[in-house]
Amino acid sequence: MIERTLIIIKPRAMKENKLSKILTMIEEKGYHLVAGKVVKLSRAQAEGFYHVHKGKEFYEGLVKFMLTGPIFVSVWEGENIILGLRKLMGKTNPLEAKEGTIRHKYAHNVRENCIHGSDSTQSADSEIPFFFSENELIME
Ligand code: CMP
Repeated sequence: MIERTLIIIKPRAMKENKLSKILTMIEEKGYHLVAGKVVKLSRAQAEGFYHVHKGKEFYEGLVKFMLTGPIFVSVWEGENIILGLRKLMGKTNPLEAKEGTIRHKYAHNVRENCIHGSDSTQSADSEIPFFFSENELIME
């Protein structure tokens, strides 16, 4: 099934100039970039995007981290891309991420884990419009 997913490259990876290396890893899997932009989140946006984690002990630290610098938000398309990208990203905690995954290569710790990807089609359906309007998502 052809799916779309939201991918965010997080502030520390941006500061460390890892953006193009990470995007290349995604492209080399055969996935296609539909839309992308550099964004500096407001606190309201960071809290809104991660509202499902509100109340968890890591929530405030996560929101603060996401405000430390610009991020790259993007929409990608491909065959079963949600699962495929979750495999390519590796486990949330980079200490558990397999060699060859994005988080194994470029993440520092569970909070500063360099990349976010939608975890289901339902998440993608709410995360994509959070950052992109309909007319930014047209491929042809
Ligand atoms: P992400 O895929 O962006 O989704 C939620 C984020 O919360 C996750 O990546 C991590 O950056 C962060 N996160 C999840 N679990 C923890 C944790 N135990 N401690 C700190 N941050 C976490």
